[in-house]
Amino acid sequence: MVSDVTNAPAIASTAAPADGLRLAVDLGGLAMKNPLTVASGTFASGREYAALWQGTLGGGSPAPPLSLLGALTTKGVSARPWEGNVGVRIAESASGILNSIGLQNPGVEAFCSGDLAWLAAQDVPVIVNVSGHSVEEYCAVVERLEREKAVSAYELNISCPNVDCGGMAFGTSPAAAERVTRACREATARPLVVKLTPNVTDVTEIARACEAGGADALSLINTVAGMAIDARARRPVFDRVVAGLSGPAVKPVALYAVHRVSRAVGLPLLGMGGVATVEDVVEFLLAGATAVAVGTWNFHDPLALPHLLEGLEAWCEEQGVADVHELIGGLR
Ligand SMILES: Cc1cc2nc3c(=O)[nH]c(=O)nc-3n(C[C@H](O)[C@H](O)[C@H](O)COP(=O)(O)O)c2cc1C
Repeated sequence: MVSDVTNAPAIASTAAPADGLRLAVDLGGLAMKNPLTVASGTFASGREYAALWQGTLGGGSPAPPLSLLGALTTKGVSARPWEGNVGVRIAESASGILNSIGLQNPGVEAFCSGDLAWLAAQDVPVIVNVSGHSVEEYCAVVERLEREKAVSAYELNISCPNVDCGGMAFGTSPAAAERVTRACREATARPLVVKLTPNVTDVTEIARACEAGGADALSLINTVAGMAIDARARRPVFDRVVAGLSGPAVKPVALYAVHRVSRAVGLPLLGMGGVATVEDVVEFLLAGATAVAVGTWNFHDPLALPHLLEGLEAWCEEQGVADVHELIGGLR
C-alpha cells in the first residue's frame, strides 16, 4: 500500500464544518465534534502524524492539527512494558495487511509521562486503548489513568489472551468479556468502550455480555485472524503463525458485525475495519455506528483523516444531509 500525501486539504477548511452542518456525536458520554477517530495501533499517539499534518496542511491555522479529529485513540497501553513479537511483524495481503506486532508498548507509567503529557496539549479528546493479560492488569491500567486529566475515555482491547484461562482471548468468552468489563466499570466513571473481536461464532453474544458488564459503548471490529505462508521457504511468514488481517479486505466483515450488533444492544457503536473512502464512513454510519475509526488506511494515506473529514462534509452537503444523525442507523 503506497503512501499518498498529495491533494492535501487545508486545515482551515477541515476545522469548521460547512455552514449549518451538524457533525457532533456522543459516543457513550464521550462528546466528539465529528464522528471520526483513528483505530488503535495505526496512529501511535499521533505525534508523527501531527508533524506531518502541520507541515503538509499548514493553512496558517493556530489550532493543533490533531484537534480536527473527533477523538484520538492511542496504541494499546498495558500495566507494564510489553516487548512485542519477534520476526516479521507486517505483511501485505490482497487489499489489506496482516500484522503481528504483539501490542508492544512502554507500559502505563512511561505512557503517562511521555505521550499522554504531549497529548494533553493537543486539544483533542483522548481515548486510551487498554491491554491486559488478566482482569487485574486491565484494572491496573485504568486505575493509574484515572489520575490523568488528559484521558477522556477508555477502549478495552479484549482480544488479548487471558493467562488465567489458558491464553484464550477475553473477547471470545461472554463470561470473561463481562467480567473484565464489569471490573473496569467499577474502576471508572469515564466513558468505557469495549472493543470486540470478530473471531467468534456470534459477536452479538459477546456484545450483550459487555453491555451487561456496564460498557457505555462498543467498538468493532478488531483484526480478523489469518496467516501467510512463504511458499519457497515452505514456512509460515509469522513466527506465531497467526496474524491479524486489516484494511479494505475486512470491510464487509466489519460492516456486517456492526449491523448485527447495532440490532442486538442499545449501546452506541464505534465502527471500524477497512475504512478508506467517504462512502465507507457513511456505510458504517448507516449500518448503525455512531462514530467511525480509520486504521490501516492511515498507512496508505497519512492524510486520510483530513481528507475524509473534508469529504464527509462535501458528501453531506451534496446529499442534503444537515445532521450526521440522519445517517446513523439509517439503513433502509
Ligand atoms: C499495526 C496495527 C496495530 C494495531 N494495534 C492495536 C492495538 O494496540 N489495540 C487494538 O485494540 N487494536 C489494534 N489494532 C486493530 C485496529 O485498531 C483495527 O481494529 C483494525 O485494524 C481494523 O481496522 P482497519 O481495517 O481500519 O485497520 C491494530 C491494527 C494494526 C494494523
